[in-house]
Amino acid sequence: MIEISPSRLPTQSKPSLIFPATDETIARAAALLASSHLVGIPTETVYGLAANAWDPVAVRNIFAAKSRPPSNPLIVHVAGIDRLDDAMQWPPSPLVQKQLDAIIDLWPGPLTVVCPRSSRIPDEVTAGRDTVAVRVPAHDVAIALLEACDFPIAAPSANRSKYISPTKAEHLFGQSGLGEYISMVLDGGPCRWGVESTIIKLGDEVPKMLRPGAVSLAELARRFGVSPEAMLQNEVAAENRGEPASFSAPGMMREHYCPTTPLMLLSTGQPAIECIETEPGKRKIARIAFRALSADEASRYFAVETLSTSGDMLEVAHHLFAALRRLDAEGLDMIHCDTCEPVGMGHAIMDRLQRAAARTQG
Ligand code: TXA
Ligand code: MG
Repeated sequence: MIEISPSRLPTQSKPSLIFPATDETIARAAALLASSHLVGIPTETVYGLAANAWDPVAVRNIFAAKSRPPSNPLIVHVAGIDRLDDAMQWPPSPLVQKQLDAIIDLWPGPLTVVCPRSSRIPDEVTAGRDTVAVRVPAHDVAIALLEACDFPIAAPSANRSKYISPTKAEHLFGQSGLGEYISMVLDGGPCRWGVESTIIKLGDEVPKMLRPGAVSLAELARRFGVSPEAMLQNEVAAENRGEPASFSAPGMMREHYCPTTPLMLLSTGQPAIECIETEPGKRKIARIAFRALSADEASRYFAVETLSTSGDMLEVAHHLFAALRRLDAEGLDMIHCDTCEPVGMGHAIMDRLQRAAARTQG
């Protein structure tokens, strides 16, 4: 992979606000959150921009920092399943309880559920909806921070709206970073999964998948005893077919995760060399490869990021957003990116890549 030396880091970089997570820095982060500040936090999926979820002033700053439309609600994080009532309506209806029972052991983990909200959650978090998105993250630092707070934490991915989600602490600064809005960032190392949590909506006879992630559609359908196809029959699917914008998953915009450099997805088996030769004026083309390329193919590119030598989709997801960010800082004419079967983690990868390429591919 290309390594960018510190001297080439963008000038807005503020590494002085990034602290290794220790008992002392976690306590400081909890105190900052309690006084309406925003803190960057690691989770097992991506880094989040955290605020006290019960504090409307802090929550409004999240929207300002990200330039996020106020109509796009936030995910609320709680320390454990015994704290779900901090965010969800409690007790839940019998149907929601039954559906929660089917997935509860997946927490802590990369799964978010949308269900009726607690009256303690302000309208700013839910964008005025009567539902709230909730998850228990599986990251020691995030859990330690939640345990040090006597409130739940609202945290979207810590990127500017529509840009690539951050998977390392330094991504919160620099190109398209959140700079001046952040009081501190807890560094918990690179995120394990590298793509955001799976989101499902409970409360209908068939729960609906709103966003694919590390918890697969097949696994969820098996647990709910429904067909995977039925879980996908929702407004997000309609929006992806170009039908009117979704109300049930407002954040699933067709254009999202977009690098500023044009991004072209290569169909499986498509000879990339042909693609390069059809773009004769464009010399600086980089390639994101999901497995090792032949020396001949690699030599045609200005730069190559190999996300996995063996085509392992967990490795690909883990490295994908960081590679897109690195290449996007290189002033390239175009990025070519491999594609994969949209199953398991491949489903989440292709969902993100199709949105990332939407601006280029029309
Ligand atoms: O992995 C993750 O989920 C990360 C980490 C930080 O936890 N967070 C994350 O948040 O990806 P964000 O804000 O980037 O994505 C949250 C998605 C958005 O698409 C939003 O529209 C949707 O969740 N969402 C939140 N509340 C909702 C609700 N009440 N109904 C439907 N969709 C909701
Ligand atoms: Mg996001």
